[in-house]
Amino acid sequence: MILRDGYTPSLWQSTVQPYVSSSKPDPAATYDVIIVGGGITGISTGLMLQEAGLRCLVLEARNLCFGTTGGTTAHLNTLLDTPYSTIEKKFSATAAKQVAAASAAAIATVRRNIDQHGIQCGFKEADAYLFAQTKQQQKELADIFEATAKAGVSVSLTDAIPFPFTLVQAIKAGGQAKFHPVDYVHGIATAFEKAGGCILQECRVTALEHSPITTVTTPQGKFKAGHIVYATHIPPGINLLHLRCSPYRSYAMACLLDNEAYPQDLAYDMEDPYNYYRTQTINCVDYLIAGGKDHRTGEEVNTEHLFTELEATVRTNFNVKEVVYRWSSQYFEPADGLPYIGHLPGQPSNVFVATGFGGNGMTYSHVAARVLTDMITGKDNELSSLFSPSRIKPIAGFTEFVAHNAGVAANFAGKLFSAEKLHELVELAPGEGKIVQHEGKKMGLFKDEGGQLHAVNPTCTHMKCEVKWNAAEQSWDCPCHGARYDCDGKVITGPADHSLEQINLAALEEKARSAAS
Ligand code: FES
Repeated sequence: MILRDGYTPSLWQSTVQPYVSSSKPDPAATYDVIIVGGGITGISTGLMLQEAGLRCLVLEARNLCFGTTGGTTAHLNTLLDTPYSTIEKKFSATAAKQVAAASAAAIATVRRNIDQHGIQCGFKEADAYLFAQTKQQQKELADIFEATAKAGVSVSLTDAIPFPFTLVQAIKAGGQAKFHPVDYVHGIATAFEKAGGCILQECRVTALEHSPITTVTTPQGKFKAGHIVYATHIPPGINLLHLRCSPYRSYAMACLLDNEAYPQDLAYDMEDPYNYYRTQTINCVDYLIAGGKDHRTGEEVNTEHLFTELEATVRTNFNVKEVVYRWSSQYFEPADGLPYIGHLPGQPSNVFVATGFGGNGMTYSHVAARVLTDMITGKDNELSSLFSPSRIKPIAGFTEFVAHNAGVAANFAGKLFSAEKLHELVELAPGEGKIVQHEGKKMGLFKDEGGQLHAVNPTCTHMKCEVKWNAAEQSWDCPCHGARYDCDGKVITGPADHSLEQINLAALEEKARSAAS
């Protein structure tokens, strides 16, 4: 089992052994590229660069796949979350074609890596079905169908799908796929090291210095490179991209069925948020994987209840024998629907980023690998301007984004003066966390299963928003840009790079006791 940025164990992390690196970094060397982040984006980019003849070092703060790669549901799609009708409207018909072609090329790259390096990761090609269950959804489906076909994806309309849902109509898309994402990343990590690349785990980057070669500071020493790639899901520090990406949580479960009727394809309904389904076979056991119930990070307090709701949805449609795993994970939704891949705004020209993949990280990771490899090796890539993090956003996307951020601010201000008082601490149940107020100062409090209280200053160290307790993941989550911390305030997800301040609760309780006596 590997560690992940969540308390709930995912199917993937529970069915692999930790990756053991076979390489050692050379502190005297100047690498061509240092990649920060050892998820699917970091490792696939590293492999592509290394195969292009560059010398690369991957620095991962925890273990490979600690972040969203260990918590995804691993759909490889050209039928993307942002419909081609939206891409055409917000960008252009040409852009829609480019995105479709880039997505298909990304899946082809995954397939080629698997074949070339003999990776055992349960990869299977599949069809995907996007299905409408109401007349209203059918209208939307018709628009999506037309734009998807125009973009070049192989699609057809059908009123029958190999899933047990009632529906009005569906789009069937060919050329999709599924796999075990952690087995895949471990496989390409091995290929990367065999090609001369180097991986260092448990190595958090704490600073960059540019002069003009970049020096990267970590607790394991300093390393030098000509180029830096941030593949950390969202870059650290304070950057324009934090204003262009909204963090979301998604919920997933892996179930055993009573009747062996495991669907082999991929399916998506058209609810908002939508639910998604597929099957993966691991060690000869089939698992139905279902997901959905997405919400903005930090905006839904009763995260436990969302698992109950998801399970009810799955049980309504499938003959579920047992829910074996249930987990949640985080993704970043771009303001205008397309990812940000390229030069990181505000940084020297040798610093690159890939983020804002929405729910299509498995596919966009390999789009990013291609675009970044071409940019770093000086090759033209027609996608570099489309995905440029510096692009001017269409007005519609910007308006929606501003509206969301206004919501976050109002939410924060509204809760400011309604917090509980210190003496109410004792009412916390084991496993419960909340914000309380004591002598005008707020605290984030959590009582663990052993009854011990953990207290932190709930002010996010990134840009000072107030964190919220996530009961399912036992973490403090920031609604502004998605930073997450464990119950003692240690960073588990960026962009924050400093822990929440821990509060000495014993001293406060003693003070409260003296005041009362
Ligand atoms: Fe930016 Fe918390 S993540 S303020």
